[in-house]
Formats: sequence, structure tokens, C-alpha cells
Amino acid sequence: MPPTHSQGYIRLGAAEDEQHLGNQRSLARLHIRRILFAFALIVALIFGYQFFRSPTDMHIDYKKYDIPHGVAPEQIASRKDWLPHHTSGHRYRYASQTNFTLPLSSTNLFIIKTASAGGKLDVITSPSQPRDSVGVGLVLSYDREDIFEHILALRLSRPGGENGVGFFEERDWRDRDHSDRSPELDITLVLPESTSQTPYTIRKLETNVSNMSQNIVDLRGRFNFNSISLSSSNGHIDAKHLDVETGSLKTSQGGIRGTFRAKDALILHTSNGPIDVDVQLENANDGKETLLDAKTSNAPFRANVTMTSTKNREGIFRVNGKTSNSMLNIAIPKAPVDFKLGMEATTSNGRADIDLPPTFEGEGILKTSAHSTASVVERHGVEDPTGRGRQRHVKTVGAKTGKLQLKAFWGESEGGKGDVTVKTSQGDIVVRV
Ligand SMILES: *[C@@H]1O[C@H](CO)[C@@H](O)[C@H](O)[C@H]1NC(C)=O
Ligand SMILES: *[C@@H]1O[C@H](CO)[C@@H](O)[C@H](O)[C@H]1NC(C)=O
Ligand SMILES: *[C@@H]1O[C@H](CO)[C@@H](O)[C@H](O)[C@H]1NC(C)=O
Ligand SMILES: *[C@@H]1O[C@H](CO)[C@@H](O)[C@H](O)[C@H]1NC(C)=O
Repeated sequence: MPPTHSQGYIRLGAAEDEQHLGNQRSLARLHIRRILFAFALIVALIFGYQFFRSPTDMHIDYKKYDIPHGVAPEQIASRKDWLPHHTSGHRYRYASQTNFTLPLSSTNLFIIKTASAGGKLDVITSPSQPRDSVGVGLVLSYDREDIFEHILALRLSRPGGENGVGFFEERDWRDRDHSDRSPELDITLVLPESTSQTPYTIRKLETNVSNMSQNIVDLRGRFNFNSISLSSSNGHIDAKHLDVETGSLKTSQGGIRGTFRAKDALILHTSNGPIDVDVQLENANDGKETLLDAKTSNAPFRANVTMTSTKNREGIFRVNGKTSNSMLNIAIPKAPVDFKLGMEATTSNGRADIDLPPTFEGEGILKTSAHSTASVVERHGVEDPTGRGRQRHVKTVGAKTGKLQLKAFWGESEGGKGDVTVKTSQGDIVVRV
């Protein structure tokens, strides 16, 4: 401050000496200088405040970490924020824990981990979590005490009210010393337990965590998600119960299991792990389809899909189910009258079993290799779901080998809207209708 100050006084003195200059003018100059000085002071204060408030510790070289674009650091867990963590069954020499808090009302709650550390991410609820916030606990298990010089645990934000937590490891730091194991990271996302009967809506939950399995407790009747996007690799995803408008759960080398309710779309993609899900698809009768798109490879596929619609009739639904070298089973026990179904069910070297609901009307194509059997089994004693006492017709065209066409309709009109394709090879196909 002193230089600016003394400069101001010198100039002030000079202005006083120059009597021929109008008092008005020098006063005006003085005024401007004072305003500029005050402005400079405010700017300095704001920047100073930002600097000290900022978690951007000058010793951290962010370039060493794979931090995705578009996120801003808000808070760093420094060494002193990691407290010893005690668990039974230690696999590692050390374990430490830290935690962050995010506002529950965030437009997006996100967790990012680019580090190679494996581990798991659990979404749980707890009565001790404050009602307006989400806790994010990190437990790090490791063998080298110097790990804290090579990791970054941050609270992050994105514009528009998005809040998250990121965990990053310095690129290739362990390559310099091959003696140790990859550290392990367990992340726990703690949602509050509301006391009210109405479920709380979370606008978006997004995870992008490599090398992790993910587990979600039963959130039925407690939380709805406008959007949920879980993305991982080398780990399973297990959701006890999730209510979503749009859900995308993607991983690899692990199964996807769970119970879901989806209004717009549910995407379940993995590889080399079973898919075993119960899904309720709820169509809004707004002319848009409700989608289940599930695929894996080299593992069994089972989906039990119940379809409902707001009007209790009609509704547009699409089910894509895919695996390979394994059995595939899709059952639709219930769907509204006059609903429209598009289904594509594909596997290879395995059997395909499809159960269509009594309300199904439309066409189907069953296709397998020549030495396997494709058949349609008609359930008997199925009553007209509209209660009008109509007769049901199930027709098949084709040989019982390789390829078979199916037509099912109630009453006299063949104008059914369903369109089902079931494909495999080296395996039988049975469609029950
Ligand atoms: C959260 O971390 C802080 C230190 O950063 C610690 O004081 C507190 O005990 C931790 N809380 C939990 C629930 O682990
Ligand atoms: C996953 O873990 C393995 C073994 O720990 C490691 O080699 C690999 O780099 C990790 N992958 C990613 C994407 O982090
Ligand atoms: C997850 O993060 C990786 C690496 O930062 C990025 O390439 C990928 O697009 C992200 N995936 C999703 C679904 O956001
Ligand atoms: C399929 O789901 C419905 C409704 O969720 C349930 O009642 C039924 O028991 C399930 N069927 C199987 C075979 O799991």
C-alpha cells in the first residue's frame, strides 16, 4: 500500500503548488485518484481473499493428474484431513479416511476417479446424514506412506450447480517402484433418510470410476432420480432398487444385478458378467417409447420386465436384450392392453426363452441355426384381458427348425402392434405366449 499512498500525496502536493490550475480540476483529479485507489484496494482484497480461500495450493501441479476438463477444484483433502482408518482384515499396511459434503439439491452429484486404484463405490442411506446434504467418505488402503504426495482428493464443481468429488493419482507414480500393490479406494455416498412419506428427487447422480464395483441399497420410495449415470470398468453393478426417469449403468468384466423402475430409458451395458434384473417400465402414454436396452457377453442374461402405462392401457415399449455364448431369458409377465412392443433378443451358442404377456398382439420372428428348434408355446385358458370375451389366435408359419414366424392377436383383427425378434445359434428358442 505505501507506494500508492505516497504517490498520491506527492501528486496532491504538486497540484497545490500549481496555482494557475483551477481548484476544480485538481479536486477532480484527486477524486479520480481516490476512486482508482479504492478500486485497486477492492480488487487486491478480492484476489487476496480468493488466493487464501482457494484450495489451489501452489505446490500442487494439477497437470500431473488426469483431471477432466470443465471441473473446478473447491476443496482439497490435505494430508492432515486423512485420519487413520481401522478395519478388521487388513490387506494393506495402512488405511486412511477422509470425507466431503455436497448439497443434496445439486443439479448433479458426481464422483470421478481416474486413478488406477481399484475398490468399490457404495451408495447408502443413513439417519445421521443431515437432511440437506450428501456425505462422500473415502477410505484409502495402501502400503506406501508417501502415497499422499501422489494422490489428490478434491471436492469439485461444474457450472450450473453441479457438485462432486474427484480422486486422482499422479500419472505412473508407482512405475518408479514396482514393489507395492495398487492402492485400494472405497467410496461411500451417504444419502440422508427423509422422515416424510414422499420420496426426494435427485436431479442427477453421475459416477465415472474406473476399476470399481458399485452397489446401491434399496432406495424404493425414498429417492427418485431424474437421471442416473453410473460408469465403471472391471467391476459389477448391484442396485437393490432404483427409481429413475433415465438410467445408464455401464461397466465391464462384471455383472449387473438389481431391481429398477424406469420411465424413459434404462441402459445396462457390461461384458463377461451376467445380467439379472427385474425391471418395471412405466410409459407416460405421450407417444414416446420407454426403453430397456441391456447387453453383456459370455454370460447368462435374465430380465423380468413388467410394463405399465399411465392410462393403464396402450403405451410404447422397447426391450433390447443381448448376450453371447450363454442363455438368454426375457419374461414380460404383465403389460397393458393394446400396448406396442418392440423387442430384439439376441444370443449365440445358447438357449433363448421369451415369455410374452397375454396382452401381446403382433408378430414375431424366431431364428436359430438349422439343427436347433424354434417353437411357440401357447398358454391355454388365457382370458381376454379387456374382459370382452374375445378369442385369442396364435399362428405360426415355418418349419420347427431354424426359423419360425409368429402372429398373435385377440378377436378378428390382425392389426397387432408388437414386433419381436429372437435370435440365437446352436440353441433352441422357446417363445411362450
Ligand atoms: C470427516 O473428515 C473430518 C476431517 O477432514 C473428520 O474430522 C471427521 O471425523 C470425518 N467424519 C467422518 C464421519 O468420517
Ligand atoms: C485397473 O487396475 C489394473 C490392475 O490394478 C491396472 O493395471 C489398470 O491400469 C487399471 N485401469 C484403469 C482404467 O484404471
Ligand atoms: C469417464 O471419464 C473418462 C476419462 O476422463 C472419459 O473419457 C469418459 O468419457 C467418461 N465417461 C462418461 C460416461 O462420462
Ligand atoms: C417378475 O417381476 C414381477 C413384478 O416385479 C414379480 O411379481 C414376479 O415375481 C417376477 N417374476 C420372476 C420370475 O422373477
